Amino acid sequence: MTDNRPIGVFDSGIGGLTVLREIWNAVPEESTVYFGDNSRTPYGTKSRSTVIRYSLQNMKFLESKDVKMIVIACNTASAYAYEELKTRSKVPVVEVVTPGADEACRATKNGRIGIIATKGTVSTGVYKKAVEDKAEERGMKNIEIFQQACPLFVSLAEEGWWDNEIAKLTAEEYLKSLKEAGVDTLVMACTHYPLLSKVIGEVMGDGVTLVNTGVATAKVVRDILNKESIASEESSSKPLREFYTSDEPELFEQVAMPFLGEGLPSGTKHFSTDRYEVTI
Ligand code: DGL
Repeated sequence: MTDNRPIGVFDSGIGGLTVLREIWNAVPEESTVYFGDNSRTPYGTKSRSTVIRYSLQNMKFLESKDVKMIVIACNTASAYAYEELKTRSKVPVVEVVTPGADEACRATKNGRIGIIATKGTVSTGVYKKAVEDKAEERGMKNIEIFQQACPLFVSLAEEGWWDNEIAKLTAEEYLKSLKEAGVDTLVMACTHYPLLSKVIGEVMGDGVTLVNTGVATAKVVRDILNKESIASEESSSKPLREFYTSDEPELFEQVAMPFLGEGLPSGTKHFSTDRYEVTI
């Protein structure tokens, strides 16, 4: 069986593009609808109930686009709202925390794993628990986890300041304690952070593996498409790739273009999901 409907992907802004790009690489024949909630970003400093409400509204929008799967391309929304979305959705919902945790356990050699994320994600402890669970599944002993919130990274990413002096100084300040802790693996547990991976990698040094949760999440997407028999049929026509933002489409494209290049067709549309009534 095949299903040619698109995959829906959302994030608080442009960070989810780091997941979207990996989905395109893993399953290039799939159509996608991306929603960036740029007008309400950041999610990482908002309360649990607000992030759940925003996520439910975003899900409603993607449902209106008749998607066959929803990817929460945001760690903060995954940490706070995954259970709620999974319970209410009629289609499979994919989060980004578990795949990233799995990848971190695979990558570490010395058992010292750093997690950088938004304040919200760090405060839930969901990521730490996911890494501990995966380590236990793999029979790994003596895992040590070090977490650090890096809220300014989200603003730098949204601003397009991915590789300048300010990004470098900010990274040096945030990552100091993780370097001192001797982590050999660093999970970029916010989908905005891979946009700054050059600077993050330079500050951490060669011996540290950076985990981009988008790569691991795209594998999960592919597996579910196959397992549920909902992959698109191979076709000679190009898959549809739609973009929506709750802020100015021109601003979205300006920042997204250097990252997605030709993958981003102009024609990003505006949509505000705050018009949807949801009950929590
Ligand atoms: N990109 C999101 C994440 O993965 C959220 C960043 C934010 O809006 O604070 O956590």
